[in-house]
Amino acid sequence: MGNCWPKPVDSLPSAAKLSNPIHNDAKPLKPFKNNSNSNSGQKSLSPPCDDTGGGVEEVPPSGRIVTPNLKMFTYAELRSATRNFRPDTMLGEGGFGRVFKGWIDGKTYAPSKVGIGIPVAVKKSSPDSPQGLKEWQCEVKFLGKFSHPNLVKLLGYCWEDREFLLVYEYMQKGSLETHLFSKIAEPLSWETRFKIAIGVAKGLAFLHTTEKQVIYRDFKSSNILLDEEFNAKLSDFGLAKLGPVDGDSHVTTQVIGTYGYAAPEYMATGHLYIRSDVYGFGVVLLEILTGRVVLDLNRPNGEHNLVDWARPYMPEKRKLKRIMDPRLDGQYPLKGAFQAAALILRCIESDPKNRPSMDEVLEKLKQIEAIKTKPKESKDSNRRLRAQRQERHPTHYRHHNQSKSPLSTQHGGSVTATGFAAHQRSPMVKAGL
Ligand SMILES: Nc1ncnc2c1ncn2[C@@H]1O[C@H](COP(=O)(O)OP(=O)(O)OP(=O)(O)O)[C@@H](O)[C@H]1O
Ligand SMILES: [Mg+2]
Repeated sequence: MGNCWPKPVDSLPSAAKLSNPIHNDAKPLKPFKNNSNSNSGQKSLSPPCDDTGGGVEEVPPSGRIVTPNLKMFTYAELRSATRNFRPDTMLGEGGFGRVFKGWIDGKTYAPSKVGIGIPVAVKKSSPDSPQGLKEWQCEVKFLGKFSHPNLVKLLGYCWEDREFLLVYEYMQKGSLETHLFSKIAEPLSWETRFKIAIGVAKGLAFLHTTEKQVIYRDFKSSNILLDEEFNAKLSDFGLAKLGPVDGDSHVTTQVIGTYGYAAPEYMATGHLYIRSDVYGFGVVLLEILTGRVVLDLNRPNGEHNLVDWARPYMPEKRKLKRIMDPRLDGQYPLKGAFQAAALILRCIESDPKNRPSMDEVLEKLKQIEAIKTKPKESKDSNRRLRAQRQERHPTHYRHHNQSKSPLSTQHGGSVTATGFAAHQRSPMVKAGL
């Protein structure tokens, strides 16, 4: 895997404080939030970071760097960096809380003015979130410990009273979910889709093969963030868990994660395997091929669940064509798509033992990436595209063709699956099973 360089986190906030509301996990976890507006039908299941490795030390005083990598910010600093968490700096909202864009000095990490220094994403836990502290703790423990080009960089954190915040590198192009499912986002080319798939496969493969194996547990398109060049990085380690030890094949744990992406054996038994993540990867790769979100209750009956719907189409080239994302407009190598479908079928095998490792997945993805679109495939789709455009905009199609990407927004944020700027989106759900 080449360039990965894990570094340890030396010190984290006090376990004593953390133990109050959340370390007492005996009670069943309550739903995080209701997602009445979600049009995808997806649900996240609430999290405990139940075993990230024991003791943690004293609360460090605010504003100092606790490891060479992580800074503990004060609340006042982050308020200033985001201009008092102004609504127009909001990038999105998830189960943990809202995410704001802010600016800090690249060297000292002190808050700076808009456009000066480096942009950051500041995730702020909702005050009413019973799981916020656990997720926050997991994120700091896991993400603070690893550094890899395909994992979002955690720059620091803040904990004051009931406020828990995380500060990440800012990812200009937002989430993969946005680009795949938004009606107004510029369609992703086949090449970009594979660049993204390979990037996150590297991130997962790294986690799975690091000294103490880590199961990511919440692999989904909204947790894949993209930088300016569509380099993909995994974010959200709130549900991550250390892998099995002493020759065990799995860890047994409470069932949490996100409906549709969570592996069936895990949903049924709470047995979590390293290869439970591979299932989630297969689902996301299927989303990448089809441009459809895994669960969507707005689709016709029989099509709500992408995996169930797509499975019979994947073993045959002729049928596969019918479920490929129309926004690809036929500009993909059918041979490559067919091999990708075969890989997906292996990843979503019901028995985790029959799924490939992420290293194998990565190798296969690289081979598929090398398969180029044949000139004929490309010519046919260009002709089709021109005909469609003329049909839609008989007089103006040239003008539309030249229009800028609709992805740029006022504050440089991204557009979401619903076609709104990210900050206008309804929150994702976090709910217990
Ligand atoms: N580092 C970042 N840079 C840019 N945008 C970000 C960053 N982190 C998060 N976002 C934006 O904020 C949105 C919400 O992220 P968040 O991880 O809180 O929720 P989610 O992934 O949608 O749901 P869940 O809580 O289930 O993970 C993302 O979809 C993305 O658009
Ligand atoms: Mg997320």
